[in-house]
Amino acid sequence: KLITILNGPNLNLLGKREPEIYGHDTLDDVEAACARVGKDFGLAVKLLQSNWEGQIVDWIHDARHEAAGIIINPAALTHTSVAVLDALNTFDGPVIEVHISQVHKREAFRHHSYVSMRADGVIAGFGIDGYALAMRRMGSLLA
Ligand code: DQA
Repeated sequence: KLITILNGPNLNLLGKREPEIYGHDTLDDVEAACARVGKDFGLAVKLLQSNWEGQIVDWIHDARHEAAGIIINPAALTHTSVAVLDALNTFDGPVIEVHISQVHKREAFRHHSYVSMRADGVIAGFGIDGYALAMRRMGSLLA
């Protein structure tokens, strides 16, 4: 089974971008950690990142045919995108929302998430470990 791990705007700069908030690890490190956990559960991973909302929507549509679950860090699109929410509502498997930072401790505009209306679980504030924890949860949900 495949887990699609989607990442929204500016996360290509993970490791370089505001490291005091998001840490020094990169998306390659995230992919390696998720692949390691996935092995224990017989899950393969495909990690994707785009700065474009429509690309994220298209990848969610692709996941309808190829993925058993979606882990998504929609980044800024979390707080703005009905299109990403609507796309996730077309997906039948489990969806887990991940935020590296503890969004509820930050600006008020980060407290609301459209994606949470669809997510089966939400992880925030665990740094990049949140992705590996989400993989673990996928393992139980898809067992
Ligand atoms: C984020 C939190 C969002 O508010 C922000 O726009 C991001 C990253 C996180 O992982 O903590 O780009 O999703």
